[in-house]
Amino acid sequence: MSTEAIEIDVAAESWTRRHLLALEDLSAEELTLILDTAARFKEATGGCRNKISALEDKTVANLFFEASTRTRTSFGLAARRLGAATVEFSSSGSSLSKGETFIDTAKNIEAMGVDVVVVRHRTPGTPQLLAQNLDCSVINAGDGPHEHPTQGLLDIFSIRERRGSLQGLTVALVGDIAHSRTARSNIWGLKALGAHVIVCGPSTLVSRRWEELGVEVSYDLDDVLPRCDVLNVLRIQFERQQMRPFPSVREYAHLYAVTQERMAKAKPDMLILAPGPINRGVEMTPEVADGPHSIILHQVTNGLAVRMAVLWLVCGAAQRERS
Ligand code: NCD
Repeated sequence: MSTEAIEIDVAAESWTRRHLLALEDLSAEELTLILDTAARFKEATGGCRNKISALEDKTVANLFFEASTRTRTSFGLAARRLGAATVEFSSSGSSLSKGETFIDTAKNIEAMGVDVVVVRHRTPGTPQLLAQNLDCSVINAGDGPHEHPTQGLLDIFSIRERRGSLQGLTVALVGDIAHSRTARSNIWGLKALGAHVIVCGPSTLVSRRWEELGVEVSYDLDDVLPRCDVLNVLRIQFERQQMRPFPSVREYAHLYAVTQERMAKAKPDMLILAPGPINRGVEMTPEVADGPHSIILHQVTNGLAVRMAVLWLVCGAAQRERS
């Protein structure tokens, strides 16, 4: 792995946020700046493989209080690709179990010279709370069902990479919309960049009130699929549900699983995305997950590029704020 210093020629000075807490309040210009910076980092690192010197004097701490495979690894690798030091924190085995408050734990970690805290927590608003109490940068890696901004960004980056622009595309989010932070972040980002968004799933998981966010609501996947340029297939989040939202997983799969048979009605260039983890046979069949429309593993690679961009931009803004 080679390390080289590079010039990131994007207008990074126009980025003024020390934290990335949500996509809801980002403008189209801010979203585009992140996407352009991510594209630049992807190129400069040979497709996210090589290290570059961009954040060598920085330390990034991962504070994950919920399960994670992709997001946690991706943030850690992205930080190290930029030359930053990383710290991994797990709630089990920490002083939280001795009665220390969450804020005290975070403040102690910050006091060790951490520049960026990446936080995942089951309680919505936790990243905002940390941002109010810490001097360092805070990045939301998923707060309950609220938002998962870097997932939204990497989904949008992956679509833009294939299609050039989001303007005028029809993107359907399919599945457990009610409990999905990925859905919320996608909706804000996609709409700001000019896409038409459909949310589709059983009525127990997709209320009509989603229309208030300016999206189309559908309960019929077979009806919307032929119109879509992109299907983003979301996991059924059993761990967040108080009660089962449909009689059986088999019935859900019958109505909403993306199968080869359903794909016969899709546009020939329709993209299949999934934030992962996927439950093969529930949300989609293995033939679809591994088939020619799927860009699921490209999303994972692009996650590194997007997280490199976000880490670099928030660190730059924090530095400008201090000077
Ligand atoms: C998502 C998450 O945790 O919100 N996954 C991810 O970050 N890659 C979606 C999910 O868990 O289904």
